Amino acid sequence: ITVMTFGPISIHPDFKRKGFGKILLDCSMEKARNLGGKCLLICGNIGFYGKSGFAPAAEFGIRYADAPESGAPYFLCKELEKGFLNGITGSYKDPEGYFAAQKNPDAFEEYEKQFPQKEKLRLPGQIF
Ligand SMILES: CC(C)(COP(=O)(O)OP(=O)(O)OC[C@H]1O[C@@H](n2cnc3c(N)ncnc32)[C@H](O)[C@@H]1OP(=O)(O)O)[C@@H](O)C(=O)NCCC(=O)NCCS
Repeated sequence: ITVMTFGPISIHPDFKRKGFGKILLDCSMEKARNLGGKCLLICGNIGFYGKSGFAPAAEFGIRYADAPESGAPYFLCKELEKGFLNGITGSYKDPEGYFAAQKNPDAFEEYEKQFPQKEKLRLPGQIF
């Protein structure tokens, strides 16, 4: 079945914990609903996404990209149409576009050259 994903959402550090992230998320969800979206799936922090009604996708019987049943507690789900996932179980696949760099590394490098050089940082709480 077709579902929707989105993100990443990002708020400048100077403006965090002022409610802007939730406003951005709730507004995006409303737009997704208006576009006909029935269900959103995303990897994220339940502390933030839970405030907007997301729950672990495992509770809906949806696994992340063939991960084992308990393997991805960060993989979250929100039904935009209540009950849309009733009777449905399965594995989510990221959109093809997410893998563009891996599929065509040379073209990706060319594309990246258009932007100023960025330095890779490691900050507290960073996973990758
Ligand atoms: C996650 C992010 C978008 C939240 O934006 P924000 O504007 O700071 O969040 P809000 O002020 O709207 O927070 C709403 C509620 O979510 C929860 N929340 C927000 N950030 C949280 C965090 N890092 N950990 C746990 N709960 C969090 C809190 O309950 C908060 O309410 P409270 O401040 O009254 O306690 C922001 O921290 C960010 O840009 N992070 C870096 C990028 C990222 O990780 N994006 C998410 C992956 S797509």
